[in-house]
Amino acid sequence: MKRGFLFFSLLCFAGIAEAQDIVLPTPVKTGGKPFLEIVNARHSERTYVKKELPAQVISNLLWVANGFNRADRRTVPSAMNKQEMELYVVFDDGAYFYDAAQNILKLVAKGNYKEALGQPNITDNAALTIVMVANLNKSSMDMARISTGCISQNIYLFAASEGLGSVARGSFRNAELAQALQLNSRQAITLVQPVGYLK
Ligand SMILES: Cc1cc2nc3c(=O)[nH]c(=O)nc-3n(C[C@H](O)[C@H](O)[C@H](O)COP(=O)(O)O)c2cc1C
Repeated sequence: MKRGFLFFSLLCFAGIAEAQDIVLPTPVKTGGKPFLEIVNARHSERTYVKKELPAQVISNLLWVANGFNRADRRTVPSAMNKQEMELYVVFDDGAYFYDAAQNILKLVAKGNYKEALGQPNITDNAALTIVMVANLNKSSMDMARISTGCISQNIYLFAASEGLGSVARGSFRNAELAQALQLNSRQAITLVQPVGYLK
């Protein structure tokens, strides 16, 4: 804990993390259930029990979803390695940008933005909701939608491996959510995906 705090302080000092950012633990890249069992278990789950995910699970989840597994290459493919997709994470008390290179959740805005996520029957009890955002300066919407599918499936598979629930959601309040995440006109939300504990 002390070492973690020292590391966090050093990061703040270096200007990488601000005080309210969340420095995630290093993702664990081994383990999990056998792959074919995970595929067999993958499904959409919309009913969750309210409970926070441990920081380690959040780190592992985000790494699986869109982290780096090689120098300048990610766990998901992208056309011509443009890496146009970025992830934001909405918790009950704020919205964060996933800085995959630094493994930090950078605070975008404090506040409850769950209404903008829509479908409160699903969102309310989720531990978090991942928002997939395409940077259209890097690639086309066509390519971004395919990359989105890859990220979504990785999240589904991670959830199945961990015994968690998840569902891809195309219905959200686009304008409100874009405003909450402070997106610019070249950034487009492609999908939102909650993750939570199963009932
Ligand atoms: C692009 C996409 C958008 C979806 N949007 C929603 C949504 O807005 N709300 C929802 O409850 N489920 C949504 N789903 C989940 C589908 O309803 C679900 O995948 C489908 O019923 C099949 O169930 P399964 O995932 O358990 O196989 C979406 C799935 C995809 C791939």
